[in-house]
Amino acid sequence: MCGIIGYTGNKDVTEMLLDTLEMLEYRGYDSAGIAVSDTDGKIRIVKCAGRVKELRHLFGSSQINGNSGMGHTRWATHGGVTDQNAHPHRYGHITLIHNGIIENYRELKEKYQLQDMLNSETDTEIVAGVINHFYNGDPLDAIRKSVVKLKGTFALVIMFDDFPDTIFAIRNVSPIVVSSSNEGNVLASDVAAVCQFSKEYFVLPELHTIVMNRECVLLYDLSGECVEPDILTADWELGQNGKGGFPFYMEKEIMEQPEVIQKTIEGRIVNGLPFFSKDEVTDEILKECNRICVVACGTAMHAGLVGQVLAQSVLGIHMDVELASEFMYADPVIDDQTLVIAISQSGETIDTLEALKYAKRAGAKTLSIINVRGASIARESDYVIYTYAGPEVAVASTKAYTTQLSVLYLLTARMALVRGVLNEGEVRTFISELQRTPEMVDQVLQKRDQIHKMARRVLDARDTFMIGRGLDYSILLEGSLKLKEISYIHSEAYASGELKHGTIALITDKTPVVAMVTQSRLKDKEMSNIREVCSRGAKVMLFTRESFQISGMDEWSEVFELPDMQDLFMVLPASVALQLFAYYVSADKGYDVDKPRNLAKVVTVE
Ligand code: M6R
Repeated sequence: MCGIIGYTGNKDVTEMLLDTLEMLEYRGYDSAGIAVSDTDGKIRIVKCAGRVKELRHLFGSSQINGNSGMGHTRWATHGGVTDQNAHPHRYGHITLIHNGIIENYRELKEKYQLQDMLNSETDTEIVAGVINHFYNGDPLDAIRKSVVKLKGTFALVIMFDDFPDTIFAIRNVSPIVVSSSNEGNVLASDVAAVCQFSKEYFVLPELHTIVMNRECVLLYDLSGECVEPDILTADWELGQNGKGGFPFYMEKEIMEQPEVIQKTIEGRIVNGLPFFSKDEVTDEILKECNRICVVACGTAMHAGLVGQVLAQSVLGIHMDVELASEFMYADPVIDDQTLVIAISQSGETIDTLEALKYAKRAGAKTLSIINVRGASIARESDYVIYTYAGPEVAVASTKAYTTQLSVLYLLTARMALVRGVLNEGEVRTFISELQRTPEMVDQVLQKRDQIHKMARRVLDARDTFMIGRGLDYSILLEGSLKLKEISYIHSEAYASGELKHGTIALITDKTPVVAMVTQSRLKDKEMSNIREVCSRGAKVMLFTRESFQISGMDEWSEVFELPDMQDLFMVLPASVALQLFAYYVSADKGYDVDKPRNLAKVVTVE
């Protein structure tokens, strides 16, 4: 969380920082601010609560002229969303921005008697105070002495009044990447932000300090030794065409799904069979495990739930799906026969990263399914399979989810083959059904006006339920999260057979119900459950498949027919239909669909 940028070079820094903060805004958009070293060598701060466009507004037609500076977009952790709490913070000689959480900030405040000079309620200002306390003319010494006092996670970018054109940075867990080019040296929270200068970059190692001015970038370890960075090359294409004519990134990203699913699967299918040789995933790890455990959060965790159905029904292997934030506190049973799969779009979600590290310490083999190249989780994993969703900008995850699912289908098929659960012919049949998904998803997209009409039915609802069984329930958990996060309507996904054990008490004519019926063996039972809510006055919007030809259509408020696929594959077209449903509700309510309140795209606090 929190977007960070630091730059020193020959560009006019104010404009460059503001442009980059706009790109990083998806990391947090409560407040924004920059610090610039002006032509007199004075560090000047401009910041405010609100979006980057409001910060830009503060400049009017004037700028602060200078070539070195840093910028921040905030996702509030300590202290409300106010101008004072926006970063950068200043204490004595120090100006500082921060991503992360300092857990012992209260003790530090007391210990170094910082209270009298504080202007904000943030943990960040305390860090500036601690560095100022240790500063006696040597920035590196002050940084080193300070960070060993900090408990928590941090990416800190620091400017010293005495060295106004030098940018210093250090991190623990929270990411910082660094890049050099003829135009200057740059560091940021995201690879995408440094890639605008050069595709070559390095990840700042934990507890190492960067010293960066116009001429050079130097990297020091905590003992003060200068070390060589490991240079990486980004093969990450930035989406150049913005929203591509759509009003929101979310709509654009939903519409891209046939193409990105295709891209994710095509290079991994040879003669109708799945291969992960280009990803360097060995058959041994797929063969030798006797248990699988997925760790992930939010939408990525919901992809894991579909993976669980695949693993258990196709492979007959036990799979747990754990909320990454709960994983290590549940004393998980894992050993060297366990394959732990981390799923993450950003590859930076700290809960997932910490769960993965825990699993490694317990001896498990680790594999991650990641969208962003070179992300922290990818670097920590024994094996990585990248999805080819491309940059996902909207906070609500859509194309990352369906490409994660595509990888899970491929992985299931490869495991079935190497474990001898299915023969080659059976695997080919499975894969050929997977290859139909881009076309089936496209058919849903073509009928999106119908889904828009259904969405209008819930615009005024305060609460909704989404009901189904089996795989339909897994799909609805994700559909319900989508609706909650962007429309602010309370939505509960419920296993429809469980309603009668209590929750049906909440069903009235004021609680619209979304029902999903795509699974042949569950159809009749699901229909009975739907009739039970209808009898309590609920208006039902039914998503089902063409071939089911549900009778008594006029009983339901609206029906959407999904194109037919084999039961296990209905997840993909059905999920896309629910993404569109949530999208239209949010857009019709007039919300900023891409930046829902209180959220951020990359979650780097525990
Ligand atoms: O980057 P990750 O996939 O690890 O992110 C996990 C969740 O934070 C993310 O899926 C979140 O739930 C989305 N906002 C859902 O749309």
